[in-house]
Amino acid sequence: MTKSVIKAAFLCLALTLAACASEQKEENQESIFEVKKPKATYGKIQKVDVGPTIDATMAKAGKETFEIKCGACHKYDERYVGPALGKVTERRTPEYVMNMILDTETMIENDDTVKCLVQEFMMRMPNQSVDEKDARAVLEHLRDYAEHHK
Ligand code: HEC
Repeated sequence: MTKSVIKAAFLCLALTLAACASEQKEENQESIFEVKKPKATYGKIQKVDVGPTIDATMAKAGKETFEIKCGACHKYDERYVGPALGKVTERRTPEYVMNMILDTETMIENDDTVKCLVQEFMMRMPNQSVDEKDARAVLEHLRDYAEHHK
């Protein structure tokens, strides 16, 4: 009885891992950290207007919020508790980043990329209770960072 439960659990895990791997294959062997084409957006933010230039004041405010609310788990250029975010705006859409901050649970439940990240990092990112204005500033900071670290 216990044995078959364990077997079933392993089979489940193997199947989920396979789903992540095959998703990568379908998209020309890209890993979950490479640029993805825009896809359906889950979460409450359906459209973010980003300008062609970066708003320096907003980016500066976003840097402060990032350090307080995100820095415990995310670094810019190396994997930590969560993925490196220095170039996240190059691989994900603004809506994806905003929803990861504001509607973390919905993204974890629905977005295939995030589901694979949860497996890879073996935890669910907790919602940081950031308001929309601060989240938008964090996005601006991440765009600014990517722009200056090409
Ligand atoms: C307690 C740790 C923790 C904190 C704090 C945290 N995150 Fe995360 N974050 C994670 C983990 C772990 C993942 C990988 C997905 C998962 O496992 O839920 C992640 C994933 C992400 C992703 C997706 C990255 C990608 O490559 O697609 C973004 C964007 C993100 N976090 C932004 C933020 C921002 C912005 C903040 C601050 C407001 C923040 N996170 C705070 C742990 C954290």
